[in-house]
Amino acid sequence: MTKYVICGGKPLHGEVEISGAKNAAVAILPAALLVDGVCRIENVPNISDVTLILGIMKDLGANVRMINRTTVELDCSTVYKQNVPYELARQIRASYYLIGALLGRFGRAEVPPPGGCDLGVRPIDQHLKGFSAMGAEIQVENGFIYAVAPHGRLRGAQVYLDVVSVGATMNIMLAAALAEGLTIIENAAKEPHIVDLANFLNSMGADIMGAGTDVIKIRGVKSLRGGTYSIIPDQIEAGTYMTAVAAAGGEVRINNIIPKHLDCITAKLVEMGVEIEEDGDSLIVRRTGKLTRTNVKTMPYPGFPTDMQPQIAAVLCLAEGTSILTEGIWDNRYRYADEFRRMGANIQVDGKIAVIEGVRQLTGAPVCACDLRAGAAMIVAGLAAHGITEVDQVYYIERGYENIVEKLAKLGADIHIKAIPDEDWRTSAG
Ligand code: EPU
Repeated sequence: MTKYVICGGKPLHGEVEISGAKNAAVAILPAALLVDGVCRIENVPNISDVTLILGIMKDLGANVRMINRTTVELDCSTVYKQNVPYELARQIRASYYLIGALLGRFGRAEVPPPGGCDLGVRPIDQHLKGFSAMGAEIQVENGFIYAVAPHGRLRGAQVYLDVVSVGATMNIMLAAALAEGLTIIENAAKEPHIVDLANFLNSMGADIMGAGTDVIKIRGVKSLRGGTYSIIPDQIEAGTYMTAVAAAGGEVRINNIIPKHLDCITAKLVEMGVEIEEDGDSLIVRRTGKLTRTNVKTMPYPGFPTDMQPQIAAVLCLAEGTSILTEGIWDNRYRYADEFRRMGANIQVDGKIAVIEGVRQLTGAPVCACDLRAGAAMIVAGLAAHGITEVDQVYYIERGYENIVEKLAKLGADIHIKAIPDEDWRTSAG
C-alpha cells in the first residue's frame, strides 16, 4: 500500500499530456466482445479500472495483447463463457457494460451487480428496463443478474430513459448494435464518451445515429468487423489539471485534449479569475491573481460534470467570498468535506448543497481519498496548501488517473509516493 505525500504551496509550470478517457475506455473495451475479428484500440489509459476490465475479458476467454503502454489488441473470437465472476465484477462500476455486450453478442449474460465508488444509491434499473424492452428476460438471484434473449438475438425497441443515465445509454447501445431492427433511445445522455462509443461501433460497421443528442437511433447489423480505433482524451483528467493550476497558481499547457469538451469547466474557472487560452488541441491555463467566488451546479453534459465537483470545491475553498455548490447527479458526493475541514477549509454541507466560505490559506494535513474524484480533490487542495499533506487510500485515485504523481512532479509539484509498511496499513484500514 502507498500514500501520496505533497509539500504544497509551489506554483505549477510546464506541460502535461492527457491520457485516454477512462469512462470511454471502460465501455469500448467490452464493446470489442461484439466484434468479429481483431480490434486494435489506441490511447487506452494505463489505470487500474482498465486493468480490471481487461482481466475480466481474459477470464471470459478473450485474447488480450498489449502492443505498447497505450495500445491493446483484443480478439474476442475465443470467448467461451458469458458469466463474470463476482470477485472481479464487484471491484468496478463499469462491469455493467459486460451485460449489454454479452447479451448483444451471445444472447445471455450472468454478471454480478456492479461495484465502484460509493456516491449514494447507484441503481441500474434503466439499463435493465432497456434490455427487457428488447426482449431479454432478466432475473436478479443469488447476487447475480441473469439476462437471456429467449430467441438468441435481441430485437430493437423504443426506450425512454426516466433519468439521463450515461451507463444506461451506453449499455443499451451495446445491446442494440447487433439486435434485429431499430432501437431508439430517448432522453439519452450526451457525454463525450457516448459519442466515442458510437464512433467506435460505427467504425467497426455498426449503424448508430444521433449520439451526442438526446435521441439515439441504432439500426442493428448482422455483424461487426475488426479495425483500429483511438479513444478520446479524458475530459475529467484534463479538468483536474486545470483545477490544480487554479488552486496552486502558475501556468501550464495541457496537451492532447478536445477544448470543446472542457467548455463547462473553462467557463467556471474564468469566472473565478483563471486565464485560459485555447491553442489547437491544447489549453494554456494561468493563475496569478486572486480567485473569486462563484456558484456551481453539476448536471449532465454539457453542464458542469459531477466528476469535477470535488476538484472545483477545492478551488472554491480558496476563493474570496461565499460559493454555493449544488450536486445535481449523486445523492452522496460530499463525503470528502470532513477531509477538507482538516485542512482548514470552511465548508458546510446540507443534502446536495455545500456552502463554501473561502479561506486565505489551506494547511497540509493527513487526509483520505474516500473515492476517485474526492482523492483527486485532496491532491488539488494539497498542492495549494501550506505544509505537508499525506493522502491515504490512493488506490481509488489510481483507478482513474494515469501516473498522476509523475505528471505533477514534472510540473514542479513537490509530490512523491510513500510506501506504507504492511502493519501500519492494517491498523489504519481497521
Ligand atoms: N440512475 C438511475 N437508474 C439507472 C442509472 C442511473 O436512477 O439505471 C441515476 C443514478 O442514481 C444517478 C443518475 O441516474 O443519480 C446518473 O447516473 P449514470 O447512470 O449517468 O451514472 P453511471 O453511468 O453509473 C457514469 C460514470 C460516473 C459519472 C456518471 C455521471 C462510468 C463508469 N461512470 O456513471 O463516473 O459520475 O456517469 O456522469 O462511466 C467517475 O468517473 O468518477 C464516476 C463516478
